[in-house]
Amino acid sequence: MRAYYFDNVPCDQRLAHEPVPSRPVSADTLAQMGVLTWHIPVAGYEDKVDEVARERGYKNRDTINVSREGMGEAYEAKIRGFFEEHMHEDEEIRYILSGSGFFDVRETPSDAWIRVAVQPGDLLVLPAGIYHRFTLDERDNIKALRLFQDEPKWIPHARSSATDINDHRVGYLRAIGVGA
Ligand SMILES: [Fe+2]
Repeated sequence: MRAYYFDNVPCDQRLAHEPVPSRPVSADTLAQMGVLTWHIPVAGYEDKVDEVARERGYKNRDTINVSREGMGEAYEAKIRGFFEEHMHEDEEIRYILSGSGFFDVRETPSDAWIRVAVQPGDLLVLPAGIYHRFTLDERDNIKALRLFQDEPKWIPHARSSATDINDHRVGYLRAIGVGA
């Protein structure tokens, strides 16, 4: 896992968008935003992922597989959808089994995007209420475990003035010490 400030250049979302010089972001800074990261090598990952899942109460999981090859015509529209800024009322937890991609998370109050580049073995937890988006990179494939506590609630709440006052958004800002 590597993270850095996104360059905001308006071109293909799948490119790295890493400024020169880069502005790296540490795991500690991410943790202060409530974004948690682990690296668990894919070979024999099951026990360690199970341990994290047990500790954090993730009782269920499934696997998501996204690739240009597998999706054909629908691929471009699908990844544009992932890239719409949104939040959820639950944590978003992903463990990368193969392929790669980018999770962008909004820093508050700067409103800057921080890009988190994920690779096989990366386990990422986005807290409820954080604005974020996702894209595959130029390799156009990723396979990931999605972990969840109970029933999956994948409902994305697009960023808006209404979402800004969603209880989970307000609770998130309070938890990171930004909200009232
Ligand atoms: Fe999401």
